[in-house]
Amino acid sequence: MTNLKPIIFSLFSVALLTACQGAEAPVKESASSTKTEATPRVITKDDKFTYANYDEVRVTHLDLNLDVNFEAKVLDGIATIDFEKVKPDADMIVLDTKDLLIKSVRVFADGKPEGVTDYTIDAADKVLGEALRIPLTDKTDQILISYRTSPKAEGLQWLSPEQTAGKKHPYLFSQAQALNARTMAPLQDTPAVRMTYSATLRVPDGLLPLMSASQGAKDENDEYRFEMPQPIPSYLLAIAVGDIKFKAINDHIGVYAEEYILDAAAEEFSETPQMEEANTKLYGPYRWGRYDMIVLPPSFPYGGMENPRLSFLTPTLVAGDKSLTNVVAHELAHSWSGNLVTNASWRDAWLNEGFTSYVENRVMEELYGERRAVMEQVLDMEGMKRAISDAKRPELTHLKLPKDMVHPDEAFTLVSYIKGANFLFFLEDRFGREKFDPFLKAWFNDNAFGAVTTEDFLSYLHENLHKDNMDAVTKDEIDAWVYGPGLPDTARKPVSDAFESVDEQSADWVSGKVKAAELKTDAWSTHEWLHFLNNLPEGLSEAQFAELDETFALTGTQNAETAFAWYMQVIKGGYEPAYPELESFLMTVGRGKFIYRLYGALNASDREDVQLWAADVYEAARPGYHPIAQRRIDDIMAE
Ligand code: BES
Ligand code: ZN
Repeated sequence: MTNLKPIIFSLFSVALLTACQGAEAPVKESASSTKTEATPRVITKDDKFTYANYDEVRVTHLDLNLDVNFEAKVLDGIATIDFEKVKPDADMIVLDTKDLLIKSVRVFADGKPEGVTDYTIDAADKVLGEALRIPLTDKTDQILISYRTSPKAEGLQWLSPEQTAGKKHPYLFSQAQALNARTMAPLQDTPAVRMTYSATLRVPDGLLPLMSASQGAKDENDEYRFEMPQPIPSYLLAIAVGDIKFKAINDHIGVYAEEYILDAAAEEFSETPQMEEANTKLYGPYRWGRYDMIVLPPSFPYGGMENPRLSFLTPTLVAGDKSLTNVVAHELAHSWSGNLVTNASWRDAWLNEGFTSYVENRVMEELYGERRAVMEQVLDMEGMKRAISDAKRPELTHLKLPKDMVHPDEAFTLVSYIKGANFLFFLEDRFGREKFDPFLKAWFNDNAFGAVTTEDFLSYLHENLHKDNMDAVTKDEIDAWVYGPGLPDTARKPVSDAFESVDEQSADWVSGKVKAAELKTDAWSTHEWLHFLNNLPEGLSEAQFAELDETFALTGTQNAETAFAWYMQVIKGGYEPAYPELESFLMTVGRGKFIYRLYGALNASDREDVQLWAADVYEAARPGYHPIAQRRIDDIMAE
């Protein structure tokens, strides 16, 4: 983004450590978890968001040998693919590509180079990209694809030096989930297929490349080598390159970031080791070796992304008071739910995101106690109810999502996250923690390194928990959660005493009984502020907005979540004095959770001047946004 505001923490940032290289802890598998391969099973092709014929042929390993070319904004090199035939007579492998320039395809047969091979590329589909079809003979055992990415690849954002905090070096980062791994390399881009990967990267001097893999040191050829020995789905392929420094938190957990925010981030996330312990205690060993985090530039379009061994995080989490670390708990939890046990298609996204939101909340409870965990449940519930009422059609509020989704983006609403988590809260409440916790641990263990469907989960639930405790729940109750719309009335109803007290005070202020300055907000955490702001009634006067703003300095606040909640109210109430800071927020922060709804609310305004103002801000901010955010906001502004 242009206008990137370096965050205040630069004052404190003295980088003592340079990047941590090598020293990869060997991955130990416990005796009960020896499976490192995807569980072989009858494969039916039911992911409609891939061209891959993975019911016939499956990619087992991807090797990338790439130049990271910042001038041309491309990754350029060779992808080497190992595969196995599921159907012995398969005579073709179909790979996903999107906007890739394929230069040549060569094959090896019986271990010997066979030279170039004919291939075909289908016409482009806006969502799916272009199928690459490569014929196979009985003897073909490896495929080498020479290719280059597009400067417009949706999965890659190339930042100029001016768009970084340090201003000296360019920056690149990827976002493969859900359909963008195919804009980075030709592969089978479906969560149903797992592969190991390795990579050799060449980057300009002074830049450090990182991947969702073991971090290799620069070798004698000035190349960096990466290995991901555990099989992963393609959407977990990830790369970041920049002037990135490292700070350890413990012997296998640390933070990468630009220097300006490195120390602050290490401090903000200093409780990650306890989160890992809580996860391990509940659900079994962490199986990925190191767990590092990278704090990306502010245009990163998500709060976090669970790239294995290296979670990607937005800098907006670095609030200074550890109030937003549930996102770290969330990305770390994906090391079990999602990365270890993966949804087989995006129709089953709740198996990744709902399970992870559940585990996240359990871990928050372990670390910070029930009070905070319940506040987060209530805030989540409020958000989900809105998502349910905003849903374009009722099928999109089922946990099992409909066949005719147009884009997997439709799968990643708070329905998958919070209705999914609440289904598990419901099961936990009915069966009791003493039974439910070991059940979930066994689910992760028994399906480790596999891909699972909703139906797999339901039959596992029946076999391993329900069958012997038939009184706990009925099949109809379960079906209402999974195959029915909205929030079932069997849902847990979390009550936060802290929020009830906020509500009482809020009502007193709204009715004029007390002044804003008399509200007892000193002890309020970010959570209480969020509840207060999200639940302000409609129709507040300009004077009431001004009173809140003057008393609590809300406009321009540094906590991005609080700022977002305030600006949503500002837009609803048309409180214009806050618009300049809202503009600066939109120019600085590219996190989709905030900016999609802010632009949506602005664009839905019944005031034409507000709509025009929003269009102008977007035009100025758009070049700094990630390609994913550009696509999403283009659609929002066209509505
Ligand atoms: N895997 C998601 C991010 C994602 C979803 C990327 C869909 C691409 C497509 C990640 O784990 C996530 O859920 N992030 C959340 C944080 C969480 C605490 C709700 C986010 O980005 O806000
Ligand atoms: Zn997630």
